[in-house]
Amino acid sequence: MTKIGWATDIHLSVCNNTTRQHFYRDIRSAGLDQLWLGGDIGEADNIESLLSELIAQVAIPVAFVLGNHDFYFGSIQEVRGLADQLCARFQNTVYLSHSRVQQITPTVGLVGHDGWADGRIGNFETSMVMMHDYRHIEELSGYDKLERWEHMKQQGDLAARHLYDVLPDAMETYEETYLVTHLPPMREACWYDGNIADDEWAPHFTCKAVGDAILAIASQYSSKLTVLCGHTHSPGVCEPAPNVTIYTDGAEYEKPKLSRIIEL
Ligand SMILES: [Fe+2]
Ligand SMILES: [Fe+2]
Repeated sequence: MTKIGWATDIHLSVCNNTTRQHFYRDIRSAGLDQLWLGGDIGEADNIESLLSELIAQVAIPVAFVLGNHDFYFGSIQEVRGLADQLCARFQNTVYLSHSRVQQITPTVGLVGHDGWADGRIGNFETSMVMMHDYRHIEELSGYDKLERWEHMKQQGDLAARHLYDVLPDAMETYEETYLVTHLPPMREACWYDGNIADDEWAPHFTCKAVGDAILAIASQYSSKLTVLCGHTHSPGVCEPAPNVTIYTDGAEYEKPKLSRIIEL
């Protein structure tokens, strides 16, 4: 049996050292074979040190994607480069956004991408929501709303292109594929307090490009696809197709935890 730990939105940068060490201890004592992380680990200026600390402390293979917070006070390009460097330094560490299909067991594969809120679900044009992303991430700041939307769509499309590249291979090869991403890929997966997001919030909390890719690819195969995401910090589950289940896991600031343990 292979035992996987899944955690999302652990926001280690707002945790003190004691809280972080307790989290690592909980992971070690869970007897896991691997840890999967769904993004929002830190911010641009501390993600490298926090991930390095986590990888060293948990001492098991780690596969991760990054979330919007991981790019705060820096740039998407720079932080994704840091993630690549980290994977070169630590054996058995995989940044899924830049990786091919990972074999977990002979019948289970893993793919993933950060995803990006692409403003295509709900009503971006009338929404008054102003995410910190739009001030604190280099690629999104300094634009008016419609200019920014173009950059958000480009990021969403980049995520979808990666999935068109890797997900068909995975679903063809394995009985079950896990897809780790930060953003809920559709409105039905974008939970908040037991409800799904309205037109005001959905543009900033969903990646439609990834959702469209998931449904288009999954419809071509009979194998099972399980999507693990976060970002809303509020849990829920949806089944948008007979072979697709999307788990959105909850999180609390300063209380990092394993969201679920998956036994394969
Ligand atoms: Fe988060
Ligand atoms: Fe997030």
